[in-house]
Amino acid sequence: MDLRSLVPGTAGLAGVAADALVLVLAGGQAQTLEPPLAALLSESVKAGDFEFKAGRTLYLHRPAGLKAPRLVLAAAADASPKAFKAAVAAALSALKPLGVRHAAVALAAAPLSEAGVLDDRHAEVLALAVSEATYLYRHTKPSAGDGSKLQKVSLVSDKATANAIKKGLARGQAIGEGVTLARECANRPGNHATPTFLAEQAQALAAQYGFKVEVLGRKEVEKLGMGAFIGVAQGSEEPLRFIVLRYEGAPRASAPLVLVGKGITFDSGGISIKPAAEMDEMKFDMSGAASVLGTFRAIGEIGPKVNVVGLIAACENLPSGRSIKPGDVLRSMAGHTIEVLNTDAEGRLVLCDALTYAERFKPAAVVDIATLTGACVIALGAQRSGLFCPDDELAAKLLQAGESALDPAWRMPMDDEYDEGLKSNFADMANVGPRAGGAITAAMFLKRFTKAYRWAHLDIAGTAWKGGAAKGATGRPVALLTHFVLSHTR
Ligand code: BES
Ligand code: MN
Ligand code: ZN
Repeated sequence: MDLRSLVPGTAGLAGVAADALVLVLAGGQAQTLEPPLAALLSESVKAGDFEFKAGRTLYLHRPAGLKAPRLVLAAAADASPKAFKAAVAAALSALKPLGVRHAAVALAAAPLSEAGVLDDRHAEVLALAVSEATYLYRHTKPSAGDGSKLQKVSLVSDKATANAIKKGLARGQAIGEGVTLARECANRPGNHATPTFLAEQAQALAAQYGFKVEVLGRKEVEKLGMGAFIGVAQGSEEPLRFIVLRYEGAPRASAPLVLVGKGITFDSGGISIKPAAEMDEMKFDMSGAASVLGTFRAIGEIGPKVNVVGLIAACENLPSGRSIKPGDVLRSMAGHTIEVLNTDAEGRLVLCDALTYAERFKPAAVVDIATLTGACVIALGAQRSGLFCPDDELAAKLLQAGESALDPAWRMPMDDEYDEGLKSNFADMANVGPRAGGAITAAMFLKRFTKAYRWAHLDIAGTAWKGGAAKGATGRPVALLTHFVLSHTR
């Protein structure tokens, strides 16, 4: 996608040469627009075809007085990046079936200040909206067609802001590519997106961007003593992979951020098998891993001055004659024993060993990302990811990253009392607690393995994919994570 800033000539918006002009209208009627646009707008409102109501769009063909052969009016609630992104997304979906190759997007805000309405954040979210709108899953669906014809999007700005716009577009494009990679990996079915496939993706990224990469198999993981991870993997014929990616943007002495992704490429529940309804969606149980790969893609594009390590524990959770059974006790890499009361609580088992492995990097902070609990979906729905973090400063940074990236999270409690549910008569801990507060006990389980560093856990079970007619991966929380990584360079 060709993304640019466009400074109009003396003819203003009326003279913009593009296949379509998208005019985002923020803040109601009081726009100061050039005569042809003002006339088109007031006529459309008078005719009852357009309203200043967020989400509304109107398509006009061969609009009088404009050089562009198509005009889309799109109402935004206000001039914030969030409202702008929503309006752009609505306009792009109106343009989707058309032959538009070049769209120019302009923001008209009331009251219109000459400069200072648009900034780099608008540019970033425009780039994201474009990449989200033009993504098409085709890998196992050849009949999906060729997808969007859109090749170029320009953001109209004045000269003074053009540089900021360019920076925002580049950042948004990088994040958009990361989001797209995460979506593509997560959307691929379990028989395609295997642990081996995830490792190949990591190796391809490493080759493209110069990351270091290491892929461990069963033997190496056994040697490390990752008994919890191996316990989950042992029910499957598909070989496990433990992936280590390293981005070095700062001197060696600078402590790295470590991102740890849950990479269950299919979660049947194991012997504690899940009900059949919607079980297909458990191919998305590697979305945490996909978000680590996507974030590496984004930082590979951006090149921030920070060190980042990505760890992915990837395997399947299946029932078989070799599967772990309820009541089995596993020995984690940290040396703690775990009674497996429910084989469907497998995410924490693979993550706990990855979290112990993370210690060797002497990290500045560790963030794990996991589709960990159905309980988190019940608690927060699809809007916000669950953030669990005993460290107020780190929590604030992650929440802020989520807000600025429009990929928001919500902090959940971690009082010590929640840990009591994990007691076991036969091991140092059980892998599940009571049903109530299930997302929190899962986080408390992980916390036991994170004593050596500052740590946060993102439960993305509700945000990583959509079900129903629009079933598919969202690529969240790549944007949050990328903003978090970038915030460490300041
Ligand atoms: N991958 C699931 C969590 C999940 C469930 C994500 C539904 C999205 C939608 C996880 O491995 C799991 O099965 N968790 C169990 C834990 C329980 C057994 C304590 C759950 O949430 O039911
Ligand atoms: Mn499970
Ligand atoms: Zn799972």
